[in-house]
Amino acid sequence: MNKKYRKPVIAGNWKMNMLHSGTKDFMDELKPLLPKTRGCEVVLCVPSPLLYGMVKACRGTKVAVGAQDVSVHDKGAYTGEVSASMLKDLGVKYCIVGHSERRAYHGETDELVNAKTKKLLEAGITPIICVGETLEERERGLTMDLISLQVRGTLCGLTDAEVRRCVIAYEPVWAIGTGKTATAEQAQEVCEHIRSVVRKLYDAKTARSTVIQYGGSMNAKNAAELLACPDIDGGLIGGASLKPVDFSVIVNAACEEE
Ligand code: 13P
Repeated sequence: MNKKYRKPVIAGNWKMNMLHSGTKDFMDELKPLLPKTRGCEVVLCVPSPLLYGMVKACRGTKVAVGAQDVSVHDKGAYTGEVSASMLKDLGVKYCIVGHSERRAYHGETDELVNAKTKKLLEAGITPIICVGETLEERERGLTMDLISLQVRGTLCGLTDAEVRRCVIAYEPVWAIGTGKTATAEQAQEVCEHIRSVVRKLYDAKTARSTVIQYGGSMNAKNAAELLACPDIDGGLIGGASLKPVDFSVIVNAACEEE
């Protein structure tokens, strides 16, 4: 992390876990464990039916609420979809786009992720844009090229000021939910590469202002080492964000790390 230029963002991604009826208890347990300082942003990205309750449960805390996906459409006959303005109206501050699970199971492309990113920015919601390679792509030596393509594709047409309002999450697909974390060196190398792509596309100021997270089996044990890397400005945390104690250890590591 480089706190001179960027405030770290620790975001939990609950995926399709937990229930509305459990959110208050979760927050009651998490609240006293959170640091008093505002050294980092804390976000919980929860399933759509949990958003309203979560916004209420997080009132008066430093936890912002995030969604996990958004429609590319504004309104109308799109059964099952949730628009950016609906999220905004609920008090949602962040939204994940292009998670590898949506790319894999719902065929999401960089083009679609780019369109969703634009909808979120228009609504004043911070997009958390996910990029990452599969194990096969890594073994074939394609990681850096693929990441460049994903970053270029998802940021296409955004102004420098808009990019500075985005968070980019590097999530190697082989590290998600597998317990197999990228080493700090591997994660730093790709996050540094993402920053260099942003620098080439925009400028030095935009590159140094953009928050870049690591995600993939980040947990209470390995978070401090990953967050100590200069280009890793936070984490996108799946499994460990379902446990208040583990999640709070990661948040505290980000808030303390200088
Ligand atoms: P895990 O932390 O469970 O590996 O999940 C990472 C992730 O996909 C967060 O978006």
